[in-house]
Amino acid sequence: MKVIGINGSPRKNGNTAKLINKVFEPLEAEGIETELIHIGGTLIRGCLSCYQCIKLKDKRCTTKNDQFNEIFEKIVAADALILGSPVYFADITPELKALIDRAGFIARVNGHLLRHKVGAGVVSLRRGGAIHAFDSINHLFQISSMFTVGSTYWNMGFGGREGSEVETDKEGMENMADLGRSMAFLLKKLHCCSNEQ
Ligand SMILES: Cc1cc2nc3c(=O)[nH]c(=O)nc-3n(C[C@H](O)[C@H](O)[C@H](O)COP(=O)(O)O)c2cc1C
Repeated sequence: MKVIGINGSPRKNGNTAKLINKVFEPLEAEGIETELIHIGGTLIRGCLSCYQCIKLKDKRCTTKNDQFNEIFEKIVAADALILGSPVYFADITPELKALIDRAGFIARVNGHLLRHKVGAGVVSLRRGGAIHAFDSINHLFQISSMFTVGSTYWNMGFGGREGSEVETDKEGMENMADLGRSMAFLLKKLHCCSNEQ
């Protein structure tokens, strides 16, 4: 089993990365493979609305001069997806939004490729706007027949500066660990008794 984490922050070792890595800990302890992919600060173009994916149905995006197709292939091959973002003006980063738009659309028009995968959104923030950003991520999961995983509080962690500030949010970090445990639990249940997709 494999879980892909996508970091929408341009900070590779920032608060969002720390949150996602905390979710990974219990997953890895259960023998579940993890991979963190950084997209923040890299080029992920927005959807061009060319609708070629509907026509071609080749599980790819016709925009080829960025890393989208390579990442999308990994998402489709994985069992679960963690989408993480810092809160930017009460929403997610543009790189993550672009990935969501294109992945969501291409998955739909190719026979619902995200169906029955497990998903969790994770957001880091200094002060406000977390729920709106969290909702933006969950929109993808909820329209894709995915199973979303929560925790004992919404999946957010407080921290502003780069470094280990988010790690001082003890409740937030414990929440991430709990999220990882629940995701491992669900993945094991899903894989023990069904081959149905
Ligand atoms: C352009 C920009 C907009 C931001 N907007 C918000 C905001 O609306 N609410 C908030 O609490 N923090 C906001 N922040 C702070 C980040 O969300 C916060 O520092 C976050 O922990 C950064 O995560 P990272 O280290 O993974 O990049 C903003 C930061 C930037 C650079």
